[in-house]
Amino acid sequence: MSRTVVVTGGAKGIGRAVVEKFSALGDDVLALGRDEAALNRLTGLAGVRAAVCDVTDEDAVNRVFAALGDVDVLVNNAGIATHKDTEDITLQYWQEALAINITAPFLCSREAIRIMKAQTPQGGRIINIGSVSQKTPRPDSLPYTVCKHGLQGMTHQLTMDGRKYGVVSSIIHPGATLSSFTTRRGRAKAGPGATPEDYVMAGEDVAKVAVLMAALPGEVNLYEGVILPNHMKSFISRG
Ligand SMILES: NC(=O)c1ccc[n+]([C@@H]2O[C@H](COP(=O)([O-])OP(=O)(O)OC[C@H]3O[C@@H](n4cnc5c(N)ncnc54)[C@H](OP(=O)(O)O)[C@@H]3O)[C@@H](O)[C@H]2O)c1
Repeated sequence: MSRTVVVTGGAKGIGRAVVEKFSALGDDVLALGRDEAALNRLTGLAGVRAAVCDVTDEDAVNRVFAALGDVDVLVNNAGIATHKDTEDITLQYWQEALAINITAPFLCSREAIRIMKAQTPQGGRIINIGSVSQKTPRPDSLPYTVCKHGLQGMTHQLTMDGRKYGVVSSIIHPGATLSSFTTRRGRAKAGPGATPEDYVMAGEDVAKVAVLMAALPGEVNLYEGVILPNHMKSFISRG
């Protein structure tokens, strides 16, 4: 039976790959994002609808979820990276990072839970896209690291509290994956680079984990998944 799946930041990068995977499974997918042109490029994917929604905007989020009958899976994917020395971080820069990386998953999860609690059968899944930065921070990225730690805490709390209603929460921590994050750093293609350490995963690799998490029986939770290029020495290495 087809599920209703909501993906934030669903028009680009990892989010788009998640949308494509659930679409290929025959699910009804709603992709959210701010970039209307990118959302329009989802046209043609089976079962996929798109809505312009700044997921940091409470009213906009509430409107989108109010129009939904059921929600079986929410993927909190939208996020931004930060690169700045701590002493150069303005309050505005800090608050923008928190708004998209932490407040948005809260707002979307809250609305999804309200629906999941009320629907028949009760329950659903929330899948958060974290980062290996929650395990090993990248230099000079304080807001991002703090947010991804916060998202880990949110996942833990939601998992516990969701038990009452069959709402299951999990988190995926990707390493280097092709997206605007990586294209900005000069990589246009997933796969091998000049050295083994330069391998960049495809969004599809991450999307496969989201699909697996969502496919498990309601009583089973693949709570956390770290997925990364095997030679990602910045994450697993010594000396
Ligand atoms: N790529 C990596 O190597 C990597 C590694 C670890 C974790 N991640 C995580 O993966 C997630 C997706 O990032 P990505 O790598 O796929 O980067 P991306 O290509 O830049 O995608 C980011 C997405 O977030 C959306 N977004 C940003 N602000 C938004 C807002 N206010 N409202 C709605 N949507 C918003 C963007 O949509 P619009 O432009 O339409 O707003 C875009 O679809 C992020 O949470 C990121 O932290 C990525």
